Amino acid sequence: MAEVVIVSSADDAGALVADEIVRLISRTPDAVLGLATGSTPLPVYRALAPRLAGIDVSRVRGFALDEYVGIDPGHPESYRNVIAREVIEPLGLDPARVRVPDGSLEGIEHAGDDYERALHDAGGVDLQILGIGTDGHIGFNEPGSSFASLTRVKTLTEQTRDDNARFFDTVDQVPRHCITQGLGTILRARHLVLLAFGEGKADAVAGAVEGPVTASLPGSAIQLHPHATVIVDEAAARAL
Ligand code: GLP
Repeated sequence: MAEVVIVSSADDAGALVADEIVRLISRTPDAVLGLATGSTPLPVYRALAPRLAGIDVSRVRGFALDEYVGIDPGHPESYRNVIAREVIEPLGLDPARVRVPDGSLEGIEHAGDDYERALHDAGGVDLQILGIGTDGHIGFNEPGSSFASLTRVKTLTEQTRDDNARFFDTVDQVPRHCITQGLGTILRARHLVLLAFGEGKADAVAGAVEGPVTASLPGSAIQLHPHATVIVDEAAARAL
């Protein structure tokens, strides 16, 4: 059963998680952070930047959850670029110690296995930040994803493409495929912190926290984890 914390704003959630990450890095200077993209984790990264001033982050590692397949590497919304802009630069992390799954068409055959190996070699993720899609996806594990799945290529649902169209000029520009850590990969992290804000996430949050554990709502996999924390605002907690 996940621990649920209801906060009054996304900024309060960002501060809570940032404090937890600072404690983790102070204890474990080579901590491995599981990084998420999307709009939800941005308050965490914003709160973290000033808190890390004066703390040695040179040994911190990071692994992103997912990436679009075949997106132009120069596109500002490729997750490689989002992670560079929103995480690596403001937090002062070593870019060589932060990985994003390789979504290039050339590398795609081995990209999943390579990523799993890198995660294993780093000793696994200490704290995994998660958002949740309106259809209950975590990472890009859409409904129907196996709870045992590892990093692999997936097809995005039309709903997710529509949801993410706001980051592109038109929905047609949203890639159709992605490479994502699997639910099995995510469940190996030592601490899961799932964040959700706004009424649009209320049903997905209720399903993830209280619904049946089912592949139809991938976020419900967190109920299988011994240390999962769900931090939501009141709107996202509405259906709990
Ligand atoms: C995106 C990402 C997920 C994210 C989710 C919610 O497609 N791949 O990692 O959690 O959808 O996005 P947002 O936080 O912008 O609502």
